[in-house]
Amino acid sequence: MKRFALPATALALCGAFLLTVVAQDKPAASSPAGAAPPATQAAAAPAAPAASAPAEVVCFESRKGATELTQKEIKPGLLNVKCSPTTGAALWYGDPYHGTVPMGKMPGLETIPEGQAVVRPRADKLNFLAQCGTACHNGTFPKGFPKDKRAVPIPTMEAMVPDVKELQHGRGRIWCLDCHHTTKRNMLVDHYGDPISIEQPQLLCGKCHGDKLRDWRDGIHGKRIGDFTSTGKKRWFTCTECHNPHNVQDGARNRGFVQIAPETPPQLPHGMTSAAHEKVHPIAH
Ligand code: HEC
Ligand code: HEC
Ligand code: HEC
Repeated sequence: MKRFALPATALALCGAFLLTVVAQDKPAASSPAGAAPPATQAAAAPAAPAASAPAEVVCFESRKGATELTQKEIKPGLLNVKCSPTTGAALWYGDPYHGTVPMGKMPGLETIPEGQAVVRPRADKLNFLAQCGTACHNGTFPKGFPKDKRAVPIPTMEAMVPDVKELQHGRGRIWCLDCHHTTKRNMLVDHYGDPISIEQPQLLCGKCHGDKLRDWRDGIHGKRIGDFTSTGKKRWFTCTECHNPHNVQDGARNRGFVQIAPETPPQLPHGMTSAAHEKVHPIAH
């Protein structure tokens, strides 16, 4: 019994200390007992976070449903992201590189020093990826990998990923294994049949959309955020952060993106009662 007494006390003290630290990390507003001596604060701490914990705010960055980001404090008083209260879209970043990793090798971008081009990983946004090449397509199951790349009915996949039901990419001219590696199903595939990381979709898309890849590389297509000096560090948005690879030509829109509903116009400036004059062309015709 006695043997446990000391470690247990030490543990309890550590716990109290940690709680104090956590409590102090909270913004001033949520800790009204800020002036209280440390001992009292530590004792009150366990109840405090639950009572003052704000509701979780989730924003999307570029593709709703595929680029969600949970708002959190990266430093006291500094949020990782601020979200639009009307659309839920990311508006502002506390740190544009938060949660990013180096881009990986890209032909044509060799001159960018290591670590100056970063991307946000896709893998943690993809619910099935972890199982794709292990639990399911592990080489022995399901029996017999397809002999060619032609379309076949795949009800199991359609149930999991509804977008592949009538694959809307390529107008019936491309199929799963034009993009996914035959035997390494958690990887994409290049024209030689070699695997491409899921974090480098630009290498996949670029094998067919060379013009878009070139524009993206030159900064004309897509988006980058971060330091805008020519040698500064930048986060590059990858193709799949904006485009759903399975439904780029869905239904009636047939290409690109679905139109988004415009937001209501801003309020008229103080003192202006009508904006009808804007509808009159200044030069009669
Ligand atoms: C044009 C290329 C392309 C084609 C064709 C394609 N995929 Fe994909 N697929 C991708 C890419 C790229 C990703 C990763 C998407 C991302 O990062 O959001 C992906 C992701 C997936 C995932 C993981 C989804 C998740 O949420 O974990 C599955 C499963 C999948 N594809 C199945 C299929 C099936 C089945 C077909 C054929 C009917 C198919 N794909 C056709 C490019 C393609
Ligand atoms: C194996 C070749 C191939 C790959 C790989 C591929 N695409 Fe495509 N993509 C096509 C074809 C073919 C079309 C259909 C063009 C048409 O008929 O209008 C198309 C159409 C599109 C369209 C609609 C363009 C339009 O003008 O209507 C978009 C957007 C697109 N692809 C994005 C991507 C992205 C993003 C990736 C990577 C995830 C990708 N593609 C990978 C072959 C490919
Ligand atoms: C920041 C978001 C973003 C990124 C990243 C991005 N795109 Fe796009 N892409 C767009 C937008 C927006 C359009 C215009 C769509 C439209 O006109 O409806 C577009 C259009 C396209 C089109 C033609 C579609 C059409 O309707 O004509 C293709 C093909 C395409 N992108 C491929 C790519 C490839 C390949 C990559 C990666 C190398 C990429 N995109 C990266 C946003 C993005």
